[in-house]
Amino acid sequence: MVHQIAERLYAVGVADPDRRTFHGHEMSTAQGTTYNAYLVVDDKETVLADTVYEPFTDRLLANIREVVDPASITTIVANHSEPDHTGALAAVKAAAPKARILCSKRGTESIRGWHHQDWPLQAVATGDTLDTGTMTLTFIMAAMCHWPDSMMVHVGSPDVLLSNDAFGQHYTAAMFDDEATDGRLWFETEKYFVNIISPYCRNVAARLDELEQIALPIRMIAPSHGAVWRKGAADVLAAYRRYAEQRTEPRAVVCYDTMYESTRLMAKAVCRGLDEAGVPHTMHHLPTSDRSDVLTDLFGARGFLIGSSVWHMNVLPTVATLLDDLRTLRFKNRLVGAFGSYGWQKRNVEIIETRAAEAGLEVPLPGVLCQWKPQAETLAACTALGRSFGEKVKAPS
Ligand code: FEO
Repeated sequence: MVHQIAERLYAVGVADPDRRTFHGHEMSTAQGTTYNAYLVVDDKETVLADTVYEPFTDRLLANIREVVDPASITTIVANHSEPDHTGALAAVKAAAPKARILCSKRGTESIRGWHHQDWPLQAVATGDTLDTGTMTLTFIMAAMCHWPDSMMVHVGSPDVLLSNDAFGQHYTAAMFDDEATDGRLWFETEKYFVNIISPYCRNVAARLDELEQIALPIRMIAPSHGAVWRKGAADVLAAYRRYAEQRTEPRAVVCYDTMYESTRLMAKAVCRGLDEAGVPHTMHHLPTSDRSDVLTDLFGARGFLIGSSVWHMNVLPTVATLLDDLRTLRFKNRLVGAFGSYGWQKRNVEIIETRAAEAGLEVPLPGVLCQWKPQAETLAACTALGRSFGEKVKAPS
């Protein structure tokens, strides 16, 4: 469906509400996603900013035809070459043979790599502009939000920032942020940041600085996934600043996996200690929890308590994955505590503590081990760990 989001500016992308995973099977998308593309129809130029994932090409072209003949498109802006945004590029270019393609310098490399076409690609840089007749488009490089090739376009008067991946969400319930009533928009916004952009927090902070220095008015932010920030543009900019600085709240997340319930009993005892310390907390049994949602919960928390049984001289696979994720996503400024039961080899706590430290996380307290099944003494030690860890979590970081 086509939405006019401002004078001469149309949203012509498509929704994919049935999609349940993204990046292959890497990230969960409970509500599916959208592939947003935007059409600027002005006196001198007709500009399409971004396309859609290739299976939705026909729907994109049909949406464009509701507004203009695709052959009238004079410029295609490819803000980011990932296939969810350039999947329909070849078909659009065929339907718009006169159109030039503008992208970042790095985009000239990746678009050729994905499409193997002899298109003349024109690189733009921050501050370059395109006069479309009554409006001016300004290009803003946005490297690592999400790839080195990422960039944004500011559509002057109506002052809409076409931000591509940044500020987006895998969210399909509303076209505009102020129409989102299911209470999930902000969770999905943070989940998107955590799972897709968080390894590049330092870059994001630098891009936000640059955006402030450019000082273009931003009335709306229209990302390439999810809702358009019609009312909350300033709010999502502030949220990205918070995320990029990895600010945390004084709360804890307990994550565990267990083979014969011993480590689950320990996890519950750890939670009792957090209760005694007055620290808000959540608990996730990793094999039955959504990995992307757990990471989102972890991102805003100051402390993580991680438990695992021993499995073939290692931690259980879900815990190994979590430890790998913490390193890959480059979480910083968090405390980690460890606990778990073992039978013959007490490797679990050592592995959790070592990998957490390797990920740059602080392990302020010794973990709790239990051979076989925990009895009162061990459970009391787990509660003491939760209590002491809770006190660390409450202390100013
Ligand atoms: Fe939505 Fe990085 O692509």
